Amino acid sequence: MPSQIKVCMGSSCFARGNAKNLQTIQEFIDKHQLDATIELCGLRCCNNCSKGPNINIDGTEYNNIESGTLLDILEKHYINS
Ligand code: FES
Repeated sequence: MPSQIKVCMGSSCFARGNAKNLQTIQEFIDKHQLDATIELCGLRCCNNCSKGPNINIDGTEYNNIESGTLLDILEKHYINS
């Protein structure tokens, strides 16, 4: 079963960083050729806007995510695991 990354695409999260984060994830997938491993999908607002931008990886929610933190999380999860 592929790993699943869900990116909140509600207007608050999107404006606060998930537009860029989505691009970061896509570049990470391309760079490491993980398109068969990772399923990337968008979410509607998950009613947690104040903690956004929010991203969910395999059921774990990460809050206040900016690109640098996101890359650390992705590397830990998919490269160094
Ligand atoms: S827009 Fe992401 S939680 Fe509301």
